[in-house]
Amino acid sequence: MKIIFYDAKQYDIDSFEKQRKNYPDIESIYLEADLTEDTARLAEGCEGVCAFVSSTITGSVLRRLHEHGVKLLLMRCAGYNNVDIKAADKYGITVLRVPGYSPEAVAEHAMALALAVTRRIHKGYIKVRENNFSLNGLMGLDFHGKTAGIIGTGRIGAAMCRICHGFGMRVIAYDVYQNPDLDFVKYYPLSEVLRESDLISLHCPLTEASYHTETISLMKENVVFVNTSRGALVNTEDLIKGIRSRKFHGVGLDVYEEETENVFENRQEDILESSVTARLLSFPNVIVTSHQGFFTEEALAAISRTTLENACAFERGRIIKENQVK
Ligand code: NAI
Repeated sequence: MKIIFYDAKQYDIDSFEKQRKNYPDIESIYLEADLTEDTARLAEGCEGVCAFVSSTITGSVLRRLHEHGVKLLLMRCAGYNNVDIKAADKYGITVLRVPGYSPEAVAEHAMALALAVTRRIHKGYIKVRENNFSLNGLMGLDFHGKTAGIIGTGRIGAAMCRICHGFGMRVIAYDVYQNPDLDFVKYYPLSEVLRESDLISLHCPLTEASYHTETISLMKENVVFVNTSRGALVNTEDLIKGIRSRKFHGVGLDVYEEETENVFENRQEDILESSVTARLLSFPNVIVTSHQGFFTEEALAAISRTTLENACAFERGRIIKENQVK
């Protein structure tokens, strides 16, 4: 099977080529270009297309892929809110993803953001480099003995619950389904989790039901808020209003609304079309990273392996059902 990889960075190529030795029947073509209506024609002659979470895979893109004979869309990520699934079905394109590559990678990044922003590591780092050894502005909070509120306790949320438990926190959670493995976690309605928690971390998918959920107004004062899931789970204007009204001790974001143009690109020379990023970055108690939660050696190896396994299974007519998006 010939697979064309869109938006392939050098680290993607290295990781996939390392794994591809074990899949000799797969031929790969790597493209720097992202998958769009215009670039879809480059998939001519390829049965499979591999894309990442930062591509917007609309009905028109899928129609073009279908016209060029593509049968399989391999998402090298867990999230798929960027794919028009109904259109994929209409054009007979099977969509497979990598549901759980390294939940710990994302959960550890969520805790890294929570700690960094709570202990003002981002400020301390810069101050000491400037020979400023004063502690003014660096006052932190303990996590030990506090309450962590985890929204979504699937693979990543469960890993975050375990990390918070290890920090000596009381862990409470909200999910539409309770995770039976987390016997140390107490489930409450969303509003109660938001009201009671000192640290809130989002780990649910972006769906119609979870889009712009009313969360900020319910949170307690001086809360630490972390989002490594999807930007649009919260309304960014409400988040900015909350930051301005000094509701938060700190905010750590690996994802934010309108990140799509920025994600994984060096835009140092650009004039950005939106002021969301600039506004978020203007606050001293906010840290933003660019969707790097998944970015560990272990996670990339698992992503490449599962993506190639997905392709091989499809070729043999044995789709891995739990990896299929419908
Ligand atoms: P998962 O599918 O294992 O767990 C998601 C959990 O959210 C499930 O338990 C589900 O019942 C729950 N859920 C669904 N709708 C909900 C709602 N409205 N309110 C509360 N809970 C709800 O997914 P996983 O692997 O844990 O990933 C979670 C999210 O993390 C993904 O959807 C993705 O958006 C994000 N992610 C971020 C990455 C990054 O690099 N920052 C990398 C990978 C995933």
